[in-house]
Amino acid sequence: MNRREFLMASTAAVLLPTPGRAAAPLRLKAEPVNARILPEPKNLTPMLGFNGSTPGPEIRVPQRERVSVFFENGSERRSAIHWHGIHLDNAMDGVPNLTQAAVEPDETFHYAFDVPYAGTYWYHAHHRSWEQVARGLYGPLIVEEPDPPAVDRDITVVLDDWRLERNGSLHESFGNRHDFSHGGRMGNVARALFSRDTVRRGDRIRLRLINAATARIFAVSIDGGNGKVVAHDGMPLAEPVPPDDLLLAPAQRTDVILDVTGPVSFTLRTRQSSYGLGTIAVSGSNPAPIDTPIRPLPPAQVPVPDPNGAARLTLVMQGGAMGGHHGGSDFWAFNDRSGMPEAPWYRFSRGETARITLRNDTAFPHGIHLHGHHFHEIGDHGALGHYRDTTLVDPRQSRDILCVFDNPGKWLLHCHTLAHQASGMKTWVEVA
Ligand code: C2O
Ligand code: CU
Repeated sequence: MNRREFLMASTAAVLLPTPGRAAAPLRLKAEPVNARILPEPKNLTPMLGFNGSTPGPEIRVPQRERVSVFFENGSERRSAIHWHGIHLDNAMDGVPNLTQAAVEPDETFHYAFDVPYAGTYWYHAHHRSWEQVARGLYGPLIVEEPDPPAVDRDITVVLDDWRLERNGSLHESFGNRHDFSHGGRMGNVARALFSRDTVRRGDRIRLRLINAATARIFAVSIDGGNGKVVAHDGMPLAEPVPPDDLLLAPAQRTDVILDVTGPVSFTLRTRQSSYGLGTIAVSGSNPAPIDTPIRPLPPAQVPVPDPNGAARLTLVMQGGAMGGHHGGSDFWAFNDRSGMPEAPWYRFSRGETARITLRNDTAFPHGIHLHGHHFHEIGDHGALGHYRDTTLVDPRQSRDILCVFDNPGKWLLHCHTLAHQASGMKTWVEVA
């Protein structure tokens, strides 16, 4: 099978499972599921999921409330859940061997944490994540604003791809050296999964895009409405911009508010072609469309960086195919070191600001994720750019970020191409 080619374009909209409310303790059980990836009458795909489905149920929780989740491991492998993008208590971060022991099969772990910032987040397995996330162990996590923008519908859009055999089962090529040393595990079926499949013409809708793929960078166009991008990685944009040329690295999220003019279709743009990911159909029309301008979301009360007092650090991404020599022991490295060092890459005192140059000396793009924090991307003339938890750095490029390390604990810093993380591109920092 030629992995560069897609098996088929999407047909009917595929629905996400219904939300679970997080006010009461939730139970998330990891277990085998059969997923409808290929359209009927093709076979279902044996995968892993939570509570009977992949993606797992959407968890919705009001900002500043406490999330309480009993994670029950009904799979055959150890696992743990990471709450991607949440500034949470370090002990709840879900990183085996750094913040907790992996949860054995048939065991339960209780996650309980506060959610200080509203926005679009997600949860995913963080043990052998390059395999467990690709097998389906993830779901959306939405933190609701106390004063949300007026919209008619709030719709979660999960972007993912899967590498399937013709018979519908997952290709058992997990962890192969080619994926690890190149761009990671790319699928041959890609799709947008929606939390609802119809809207009305004239509706104002909020779309919460989540790239849950382990490797694919989604370049997405959205047709069927006029609107604005209002947030990246959960955090509001001061100035909303038109949703042209959306680009989501693995784990990145983007919120778009759109006034619907027709079927809302999502297209993946690749170098060679474009590929339909799915369409939200139009049924009826809204008798009283919202006609106020699309405003910025309420700003998040985030710590203010101190650019003058900032420590200056450089993290060099190295390795991979065509990447040349480096000092690490695996395919990939940060600063000549592959995998987790005994001691943290850097120790920050709590509240310290650091300016970090992320320099990509490889032939591949990398979406670099810092746990427990967001950081500012720094623009060309030192301007503070987007405030994100995952930043995409193109081959042979570099990007500076400015971060206030205000959350105490041991935090992972890694590439979210999960094959790269697994073969060297990760480290950790400590905030004390
Ligand atoms: Cu979304 Cu360390 O991961
Ligand atoms: Cu990478």
